[in-house]
Amino acid sequence: MRIDVVTIFPDYLAPLDDAIVGRARRAGLIDLRVHDLRAWATGVHQAVDDSPYGGGPGMVMTPTVWGEALDAVRAEVPDEPGVLLVPTPAGAPLTQRRVADWAGRARLTIACGRYEGIDGRVAVDAARHGPVEEFSLGDYVLAGGEVAALVAVEAVSRLVPGVLGNPASAELDSFSDGLLEAPAYTRPESWRDLDVPAVLRSGDHGAVARWRRDRSLERTAAVRPDLLDRLGADAFDRRDREV
Ligand code: ADE
Repeated sequence: MRIDVVTIFPDYLAPLDDAIVGRARRAGLIDLRVHDLRAWATGVHQAVDDSPYGGGPGMVMTPTVWGEALDAVRAEVPDEPGVLLVPTPAGAPLTQRRVADWAGRARLTIACGRYEGIDGRVAVDAARHGPVEEFSLGDYVLAGGEVAALVAVEAVSRLVPGVLGNPASAELDSFSDGLLEAPAYTRPESWRDLDVPAVLRSGDHGAVARWRRDRSLERTAAVRPDLLDRLGADAFDRRDREV
């Protein structure tokens, strides 16, 4: 998969050299390139922003600079425009479902805005070349899209075939069945007077699966009842209803 990130702070993306994403890049599974938006800025000050039409505080990122940058990055793989992702608190929430859809694409480009965002015409123009999706990490405001780009790249990468050592880890994740995951335990069996639940040591796979499902349901009901509301009745079996 090819991923391009365009930002005025390329160093912000340095963590993508490490851990799972770094390994996937070195293994050739992910071709990730970070571009400095200022390379397309002109003028002595290399400005990338300007004051907003209609007034108000802050600055808006300039369409001319973004247009040139996105044209150039798109032209690096002309037959594959891919999806343009734009992190913004005004986007629809990032979900595992969206991440899984993006992981199946051949190419993603992420446009990181700063200040009060990118001129609204940039996304409209980009949509002439391929799909554009805005996404939000949550209902809070970050200083820019770079952290959201890190989040998206990591979440997508672990679903790219070959990136995780054991693909079952992704299948069993929180959210893959619409629920939060049950708590997990490892050795030692007893620690600070706290014991690992006996059922997990029983070797009874059916009982373990039932226990995990019950804890998932309890946890989801306690902290994310909205997720339960979103599941259809056929997502639950008779034993689920007793929890
Ligand atoms: N940029 C600023 N705030 C953001 C958020 N909550 N999600 C995604 N991108 C952002």
